[in-house]
Amino acid sequence: MTLGELVSDPNLGYDVVILGGGSGGYACALRAVQLGLRVALIEKDKVGGTCLHRGCIPTKALLHAAEVADSTRESEQFGVLAELTGIDMNGVNAYKDGVVAKLYKGLQGMIKAAKIDYIEGTGKLVGKNTIEVDGRRITGKNLVLATGSYSKSIPGLDVDGERVITSEHALSLDKVPASAVVLGGGVIGVEFASAWHSFGTEVTIIEALPRLVAAEDADCSKQVERTFRKRGIKFKTGKPFESVKHTDNGVSVTIEGGEVIEAELLLVAVGRGPVTQGIGYEEQGVGMDRGFVLTDERLRTNVPGVYAVGDIVPGMQLAHRGFQQGIFVAEDIAGLEPQPIDENGIPRVTYCEPEVASVGLTEEKAKEKYGADKVKTYNYNLGGNGKSQILKTQGFVKLVGVVDGPVVGVHMVGSRVGELIGEAQLIYNWEAFPSDVAQLIHMHPTQNEALGEAHLALAGKPLHAHA
Ligand code: NAI
Repeated sequence: MTLGELVSDPNLGYDVVILGGGSGGYACALRAVQLGLRVALIEKDKVGGTCLHRGCIPTKALLHAAEVADSTRESEQFGVLAELTGIDMNGVNAYKDGVVAKLYKGLQGMIKAAKIDYIEGTGKLVGKNTIEVDGRRITGKNLVLATGSYSKSIPGLDVDGERVITSEHALSLDKVPASAVVLGGGVIGVEFASAWHSFGTEVTIIEALPRLVAAEDADCSKQVERTFRKRGIKFKTGKPFESVKHTDNGVSVTIEGGEVIEAELLLVAVGRGPVTQGIGYEEQGVGMDRGFVLTDERLRTNVPGVYAVGDIVPGMQLAHRGFQQGIFVAEDIAGLEPQPIDENGIPRVTYCEPEVASVGLTEEKAKEKYGADKVKTYNYNLGGNGKSQILKTQGFVKLVGVVDGPVVGVHMVGSRVGELIGEAQLIYNWEAFPSDVAQLIHMHPTQNEALGEAHLALAGKPLHAHA
């Protein structure tokens, strides 16, 4: 890909040189040029990074195809007679790749129009102000490290890309596996388990921690587990992986306690590691911890003029966190003095069926922070929400509030609840009290109404709910 000739004279040096064109890097570049800064963006692969090419976008397309499969299979419940005769993975992949291609084209156009100097190649930090790209030295008053993450494995578990795979491989399978073991019941694990089950795969998740989606509020885990059980997705929690052997037809996986599970393939989803090795960070004295780049709340590393954004900075590895950090750094460099980002205010959605959406503190974390007697919760069951009944989904909206204070956590489970996170994140980030939200009118009938009802109840005036 060529995004055009350099628009600036590289010999003069740049205001900002960004290493990595994923969500964090390209957002920083776009905001920096808006602010009149001269920007170079270095990328060795494709602008858009993991999110666009190997992560968020293609997996959500896969999950949407899975939802279509479920709707077809379950259509009779709605009086519609349709028959699911199979899943054509080539067709699913064509649809998914089409979505990615269209967004990629749009993004390339934006980068080009923004007059960013886009430099293709592998960059290495070689000095406080300098990145070397295939022998060329690019200098900038400020450098932004945005090199992203990769799918990790665990010691002794070799990913071969065929029977033992990561999410990248899983996105380009040309047929639906008959059976799969998913190692890790975190975000990637439950999303693939959910999609594959909808396509007809027999799935077993192995999770070392006592519950699925363990980073979420415990009630969310319970609801996901209940629904997964109903759907027929098997899972073993509190069971660390021990070993895998290749068999004639696939793999044989042993978990703690000696239980063996046979399947066609093993998906390794045990987290993502930072891409920070061999690119000069350590050599140039950038402070690191277990491969992650350490920064202060203004995303500055210990080396003056060097910032870091996105998945290489400890915290949640989410594209929208990267976007916001990129924007923040561009504004900081331009002297706008932006407010540091509250990591708890970053919304989170897991797109399995049922979806899990949350922002702010879990009940447990809120009790640690404020004291158990200062925290009140309300759990509004979607059973009382008309639109959720129309969709035939189960779940809840759970609020965590401080007594006589604001709502500090919103946790939701159910089909499509990811779309409710927008209001939830405003409630948390604007430090709304239950009574502030209770007086706002929520559209009927929507699932969004469940958020309104939960706030009415927490404010002491429930409508379609018990106090
Ligand atoms: P994760 O950290 O969410 O989950 C990994 C899970 O693997 C953990 O629950 C861990 O306990 C388990 N595990 C680790 N070693 C194990 C062992 N030996 N035996 C059994 N279980 C073991 O990481 P995941 O799911 O790989 O996702 C990586 C990153 O990508 C996450 O930070 C996530 O935020 C991001 N992502 C976000 C999505 C979203 O926002 N919807 C979708 C997919 C990924």
